[in-house]
Amino acid sequence: MKLAPFALLTVAAAALAAPAPVTKAVAALSPLGSSGVSGTVTFTKVEGGVKVSAKVAGLAEGAHGFHVHEFGDCSAADGLSAGGHFNPTAEPHAGPHDAHRHTGDMGNLTAGKDGVATVEYVDPRESFDGPNSILGRGVIVHASADDFKTQPTGNAGGRLACGVIGVAKSQ
Ligand code: CU
Ligand code: ZN
Repeated sequence: MKLAPFALLTVAAAALAAPAPVTKAVAALSPLGSSGVSGTVTFTKVEGGVKVSAKVAGLAEGAHGFHVHEFGDCSAADGLSAGGHFNPTAEPHAGPHDAHRHTGDMGNLTAGKDGVATVEYVDPRESFDGPNSILGRGVIVHASADDFKTQPTGNAGGRLACGVIGVAKSQ
């Protein structure tokens, strides 16, 4: 079959307009102010949601609230430029395994005596497309533990580190 030139152009344009779906994203966390807290969070599309893998260093021993915030804006020294918890469904603050929660509610990171916290879990709510897409949003690590109850913040205290969730180079 011979296609007219304009038909070939249409096919080429459609291919360009549909990039491969994102399967992996990453946020490099930088210290806010003089917190000295930094780390990396990777987000990988898996069966049942998005696998969240985090390693954060420079923390005080104990639990630290850990959320996706609305804005991928870490420009303010106190991290408030990242806004509140990412909550596209207008639900209450809770934990990552609660039925009703903010999409950004990822629970706590728990640091050992060495100040390092690692966590890995599959988040059933987070996504790379649609209204729950976390791409371009911010990740914040807090000074205090998230109590999963206090609205709308979990009473997790100040902001220690911030990063922007971007498309990872290796998919
Ligand atoms: Cu937060
Ligand atoms: Zn929340």
